[in-house]
Amino acid sequence: KLPIVILISGRGSNLQAIIDQAVSGGLPVEIRAVISNVPGVHGLERARQAGIETQVLDHRGFPDRATYDRALMELIDGYAPGLVVLAGFMRILTPDFVRHYARRLLNIHPSLLPRHRGLNTHARALEEGDAEHGASVHLVTEELDGGPVLIQAQVPIRPDDDPDTLAARVLEQEHRLYPEAIRWFAEGRIDFDGEQVRLDGRPLTEPVRLE
Ligand code: GAR
Repeated sequence: KLPIVILISGRGSNLQAIIDQAVSGGLPVEIRAVISNVPGVHGLERARQAGIETQVLDHRGFPDRATYDRALMELIDGYAPGLVVLAGFMRILTPDFVRHYARRLLNIHPSLLPRHRGLNTHARALEEGDAEHGASVHLVTEELDGGPVLIQAQVPIRPDDDPDTLAARVLEQEHRLYPEAIRWFAEGRIDFDGEQVRLDGRPLTEPVRLE
C-alpha cells in the first residue's frame, strides 16, 4: 500500500472520501497521518474516528512562512509518505516545500483549472457568467494552482445557483475525483518528470474527464 499523509485546514469532506475508499479496500493506501494547520477542525475528528494519527501544527506562533514550512516538512517526513495529499489545506506553500515534495504532492481545487485559480472560485464562476464549473486534481508545482491537471469533473451552472448551491454540486464531484487520482499513484500508473505527466505510459496531454 502507498503510504500517504493528508494535510487539511477544515471540514475534511475530501479527507472522508479518501478514508472511506481506503477502508472499503478499494484504494490501496495507508494513511499514516492527517495534519491540520488549524486546531479543532472537524477533519481531525474524522481522522480520529477512523483510527488515523492526527497532528496539529498551528501556523500562528511561527515567525514566517519559511519557518513554518520547514517545521511542516520535518513533521511530514517523519511518516515517510510516498505521496502528500492537500485536501482543503488553505495555505500557500513555499518554493522550498514544493521542491521538497516534487512529483509527490497533489492538490484538489474547486474549479476547472486553468480557470479560477485562487480563492472564491464559485462566486467568480457565477459573476463571470460561466456556463459550467467543476473541480480539478493537479500536481503541485511552484506556480499557484498551476501544476499539471490530472483529472477534472464538470458540473452545470443553473440560473438559480448561488455560491453555496454551486459549491455543493462541485463538492460531490470532488469526492469522486480525489480517490481516483490517488489510486493512479497507488497503482504506480503516474509518471511525472517535472514537465510531462504520463498515465499508463502515455503522455497526458489534457486532463482525464470523469463523467
Ligand atoms: C474543497 O472544496 C477544496 O477543493 C477546497 O477547499 C474545500 C475543502 O473542503 N480547496 C481549495 O480551495 C484549495 N485552494 P473539505 O475540507 O470538506 O475537503
